[in-house]
Amino acid sequence: MIIRPSIRSNVFLNAHPKGIQTYIQTLFNEATSLEKFNGPKNILIIGGSSGYGLASRVALSVATNANTINVSFESAPSDKRTGTAGFWNNVYFLEEAKKLGTTHIDIVADAFSDKTKQEVINVIKREFGKVDLVIYSLAAGARPNPETGDLIRSALKPIGEPLDGDTIDIATKTLKSLHMDAATEEDIKNTVYVMGGSDWESWLHHLDQADVLNQGIKTISYTYVGSGSMDKIYRAGTIGKAKDDLEATSLRMHSWLKDKYQGESLISSSKAVVTKASVFIPGITSYIACLFDVMKEKGVHETTLQHKHRLFKDMVYGELRRVDALHRIRIDHYEMQEDVQKETLLKLEQSKDHLLELQGTKDFIDEFYHIHGFDYDNVNYDEDIDLNAYSFDHIELSIL
Ligand code: NAI
Repeated sequence: MIIRPSIRSNVFLNAHPKGIQTYIQTLFNEATSLEKFNGPKNILIIGGSSGYGLASRVALSVATNANTINVSFESAPSDKRTGTAGFWNNVYFLEEAKKLGTTHIDIVADAFSDKTKQEVINVIKREFGKVDLVIYSLAAGARPNPETGDLIRSALKPIGEPLDGDTIDIATKTLKSLHMDAATEEDIKNTVYVMGGSDWESWLHHLDQADVLNQGIKTISYTYVGSGSMDKIYRAGTIGKAKDDLEATSLRMHSWLKDKYQGESLISSSKAVVTKASVFIPGITSYIACLFDVMKEKGVHETTLQHKHRLFKDMVYGELRRVDALHRIRIDHYEMQEDVQKETLLKLEQSKDHLLELQGTKDFIDEFYHIHGFDYDNVNYDEDIDLNAYSFDHIELSIL
C-alpha cells in the first residue's frame, strides 16, 4: 500500500508507520538528552498513546527508568486501513522502550468501561503489584452511558453566543473560517460527562478497592487555563466546564488520597501544544502559531516532551512546584508570562493578513503532519508498505 495523507474534515484518516517510527525515535532522542531524576517506578497512564500522555510516558520511562502500563483507544491496521497514529505510537514506543530493560505494556481498550479497569488491575497485580503514579490524559469525543448504552458525545462549543474564528485547513494548508453554534444545556452536560473528572475518580476508586495503590501514590491530570483571548471557546466554553469539574474532582480525591496513602491528586495547567483537536477550536491555530514564534524568540519555547519532563522533574517530584490559588500546578508559566501574552496578541493582530507566512504556522502544520507520520524528509513516501509484513507478536499489546 502506498500511504499518502488522507484527510477528511480536518481529520487524518490514516498514518504512516515509518514516519511514526521517526516521530517516536525523535521523542526518545529528546528524552535521552534530558536530565534523569528520582521518580515513580510503576506508572499507569490512561491515554498514553499520543499527545501529552505519550510525552509523559516517554519522558518518565527514560528519566526515571519507570515501568509503564498504557491504556488507549486506537485502531490496529486492517486490509484497507493503516491503523491510527496512536496505534503505531504504541508499537514503536514498545520497540524503543525494550532497549531500556524495563517493563511496558499496552492495553488497547475503552478506558471508560469497568471491564477495562478490571483487566488493568489484573495486569498491575501480575506485573507490578502496585503503582506509584496514575496519569489521566484522556481526550475523548464520546463516552458510553453504561445504564442506557447510549454514546454521549462531547462538544467543543462556546456558551451563550455563537463564535466565529479561523483555523488551518490541514489538507490544503490554507486558512479557513470556522463557525461554532452556542452550546445547549445538553452539550454542556455531555461534555462534562465525557471530559470532566468522573471517570478519573472512578479509576482511582477501582484501584484503591483492588489495593494496587502504593503508599505515596500520586495521580495527575491535565487542564488548560490559557490566555483571556481564548476564553470564549475554552475556559468559558463547554470544555471549560469539563475542566472545572476535573479540577474539583482532583481536590476531592486529594483529600482521601492524602489521608489514606499520604498521596496527592494533582492538576497541571499545561501549555497549548499541537494536537488533533487544535484545528477544531476557532482561533487556536493562529494563537498557537503566534505563541510559538514569540516563545522561540524569547528562548522559552518547549516541545511537548520537554514540557512534560520539566513538569515531573521540577514540579511533581522536585522542589520547584508553582501552584495557583486554585491549587493547580502552573507549568504553563512561560506561556502565561505578561510579555509573552502581550507580544503574542500583538503578533496576532499584526499578522491577520499573512498568518500563513509566519514560521509558527509552518511549524504548526509540520508538527500536525508529523504526529500522523507524514512529511518527514527521511521517509520514502513512494514506498509500497506491506502492512501484513508487520507482526505485533513480539510486542505485549493486548487488544480487548
Ligand atoms: P490526544 O488526543 O493527543 O490523546 C488522547 C488520548 O486519549 C489518546 O491516547 C487516546 O487513545 C486516548 N483515548 C481517547 N478515548 C479513549 C477511550 N475511550 N479509552 C481509552 N483511551 C482513550 O490528547 P492531548 O492533547 O494529549 O490531551 C490530553 C489531555 O491534556 C486532555 O485532558 C487535554 O484537555 C489536556 N490538555 C491538552 C492541551 C493541548 O494543547 N493539547 C493543553 C492542556 C491540557
